Amino acid sequence: MAVTDKRGNDLALSGVNHWFGPTQALDGVSLRIDPGEMVALLGPSGCGKTTLLQIIAGFLQPTEGEVLLDGGRVDHIPANRRRVGMVFQNYALFPHLSVFENVAYGLRARKMPGAAIKAKVAEMLALVKMGHLADRLPSQLSGGQQQRVALARALAIEPGIVLLDEPFSALDKNLRLDMQIEIKGLLKGYGVTSIIVTHDQEEALSMADRIVVMNRGRIEQVGTPDILYDRPATLFVNQFIGHANFLQAALVAPRRVKLEAGIEIDLAEPAPQPVGSAVLVSIRPENIAISGTSAGPTIPVKVRITMPLGAADVIEAVTPNGETVKIHKTRSPASKPIASGTALALSVVDPTGIGIFAAPAGDPASTLHGP
Ligand SMILES: Nc1ncnc2c1ncn2[C@@H]1O[C@H](COP(=O)(O)OP(=O)(O)O)[C@@H](O)[C@H]1O
Ligand SMILES: [Mg+2]
Repeated sequence: MAVTDKRGNDLALSGVNHWFGPTQALDGVSLRIDPGEMVALLGPSGCGKTTLLQIIAGFLQPTEGEVLLDGGRVDHIPANRRRVGMVFQNYALFPHLSVFENVAYGLRARKMPGAAIKAKVAEMLALVKMGHLADRLPSQLSGGQQQRVALARALAIEPGIVLLDEPFSALDKNLRLDMQIEIKGLLKGYGVTSIIVTHDQEEALSMADRIVVMNRGRIEQVGTPDILYDRPATLFVNQFIGHANFLQAALVAPRRVKLEAGIEIDLAEPAPQPVGSAVLVSIRPENIAISGTSAGPTIPVKVRITMPLGAADVIEAVTPNGETVKIHKTRSPASKPIASGTALALSVVDPTGIGIFAAPAGDPASTLHGP
């Protein structure tokens, strides 16, 4: 993504492998990030996100592979000589230093003259709207305010890239969304390249230009939020991003599946698997309609439970062969929840929204637990 302001570095990782003793934490990671782009590293705990961030920051040297900032190799340059700003999970502010001195810290370490430090800190605190609290100690600030100070400190050194490791995990849910919007606006407005680590898929979807989905030290897929949601490349990505129903089926023609739940569905494009193979069919809850008049084939189900989750009811129903299906039904003040035991007929709204994956060996239920 092109930005007019050339503040941000571009970053390239090439064939990065990392071992901690016998444990391989990163396995062949290659990735390019454009100047000014905001990228999320998303994946379950232990998949290597923090390790990758520390390699980019320079706190860790990769066992193998290259790290390039603006085309120049930096993997042997120590952290304090890279133009990289860090925001840590718990902000890591110095408790005995004022807000002003926390932001000034990296500038003093770089031997910037006092007057220039004063001007720079004032500029950074104004940017994050904390100028009026410059004399406070971190303990006298709310979580959101501490996070703004941590961001001001990271930006004060004029980094080409800012790395944020689970920066919202200490905030409660309501404040988190406000801070996500605010920090995204600040970083994009400032034009700096940024990488945010998260295990929260909603956070990744709402903040990032592109998302890097990681699993067991590898990159599963890189793409925009829309691409990852609509065209997941792997079963793992499909499971990890958003909610999906996985139904067992057989591919009976290149563009036709027969669900064990009963019906056959025509696909929008040919499936990559050979005809005759067992597949898992992914259908997002919002892609399932409760059919009034049966236009086309429907799956007969029985409602097990209806959960009122704010804007929508989530209905969990059971197919004739015992599979579980979740459906979203928009709520209105007048609507009544559908009672347990009610028989419904389900149909697929849009076949382009269906994902087809090779059925995993063994019991599929055991491998399909959500994040
Ligand atoms: N200092 C370390 N020593 C040994 N193993 C580590 C160390 N740091 C991380 N690991 C291991 O490397 C893998 C990746 O860890 P990490 O990058 O922290 O994952 P994430 O941030 O995605 O939760 C995990 O298996 C973890 O146990
Ligand atoms: Mg981590």
